[in-house]
Amino acid sequence: MSHEIVRDLNEDIDHVLIDETSLQTRIQAIAEEITADYDGIPDLLMICVLKGGYMFLSDLSRALKRPHTIDFMGISSYGSGTKSSGAVQIIMDLKQPITGRHVLIVEDIIDSGRTLDYMRRNLLARSPASLRICSLLNKPSRREIDVHVEYIGFDIPDEFVVGYGLDFDELYRNLPCIAVLKPAIFAHLIH
Ligand code: IMP
Ligand code: MG
Repeated sequence: MSHEIVRDLNEDIDHVLIDETSLQTRIQAIAEEITADYDGIPDLLMICVLKGGYMFLSDLSRALKRPHTIDFMGISSYGSGTKSSGAVQIIMDLKQPITGRHVLIVEDIIDSGRTLDYMRRNLLARSPASLRICSLLNKPSRREIDVHVEYIGFDIPDEFVVGYGLDFDELYRNLPCIAVLKPAIFAHLIH
């Protein structure tokens, strides 16, 4: 029998910024707000921004007590580091047109604002009936482009965070909380 050594990712965490219970409580509240705001509107299409938004979409979708459909859009703006390359690219587009649809973008975090500014402009050009944005996290101090975000889960300080869908070098997405990594984890990075 082989004894493969698997690293425990919890050991890489410096501190937890938002624990699982706080995340879930806030997501229930956002879901209630969205349910109330879209009252009387039969159509709601939630567009998840991949990859980071997948866990938030999953919990938000389950918490929404109203009919809705989902679609996915793959967006890339980061390399393997912790700073945006600045260039936003669609790497996977929607499976359907959104003309005349009521669209809600579901994103993990708004940082510089480049990704959501790009998405808002790109999707508006497809003539939806309405377009709103829901971002779990917001780093207001890092904003470069002013983007109106209708639903925000938590404002957080300027720290690189992982967990609950957010990654560093594609890892840590599966953590159930939002956490800050130990400085040693970034040590090999050259900016
Ligand atoms: P923006 O375009 O600068 O607003 O960056 C948004 C994207 O960068 C998000 O969709 C995330 O994928 C990524 N990002 C920004 N800050 C963090 C972070 O602290 N941890 C992990 N990913 C982040
Ligand atoms: Mg993202």
